[in-house]
Amino acid sequence: MNQAAALSQDELKQLVGRAALQYVVPGEILGVGTGSTVNCFIDALAQIKAQIPGAVSSSEASTQRLRALGIPVLEAAAVQRLSVYVDGADEIDGQGCMIKGGGAALTREKIVAALAERFVCIADASKRVQVLGRFPLPVEVIPMAAAQLGRRFAALGGQARLRLKDGVPLVTDNGQHILDVHGLQIGAPLAFENEVSQWPGVVTVGVFAHQRASVCLLGSASGVQTLS
Ligand code: 5RP
Repeated sequence: MNQAAALSQDELKQLVGRAALQYVVPGEILGVGTGSTVNCFIDALAQIKAQIPGAVSSSEASTQRLRALGIPVLEAAAVQRLSVYVDGADEIDGQGCMIKGGGAALTREKIVAALAERFVCIADASKRVQVLGRFPLPVEVIPMAAAQLGRRFAALGGQARLRLKDGVPLVTDNGQHILDVHGLQIGAPLAFENEVSQWPGVVTVGVFAHQRASVCLLGSASGVQTLS
């Protein structure tokens, strides 16, 4: 077995986290996502933190990690554009469309991604799929709409489950709930995102087609593959 083949999933995340450093624009505010792969990216940022005047983050967890490194974190409202946003994904297809929200940060992720000219997705190769939907689709919802939204997803062939934490409904950074929808096959991500986004009570659907990845760095046994 060669050395690359022996890399664990955590090592693959570290590999793509380091590889994403080449997309950081020195002297510019950086957009930073959420999750275990992004944590590896934030750790790698320590090497170049003198070149980063600040960051906009998509979660309280990433904000804390950035601040612990000494990188100032700005409010998204204080920024008009970002050249780059780096984030992970739960699934990514061949067009760069993604399912995101496994870490419950999808709403802020979509808001920060929408400020960015370039979305750099970092993931291990297991996240690459032909058709989105094997990973249960996260949807952030207003709690009073959860039951009716569950029925709408059932009509599409999905089974919506309220995400729990410690036995009670998980509450997002925005004070809302998450439905995880199992059993969907999302062959037309843009049309799906457009449709579900206008259902009353949906805050954010975890399909990122409008904010799809411009570049994806996939960690695999043979190293980092760049898809663009
Ligand atoms: C959080 C996300 C994450 O980017 C996604 O869940 C991937 O996380 P990880 O890098 O831990 O696999 O969308 O809401």
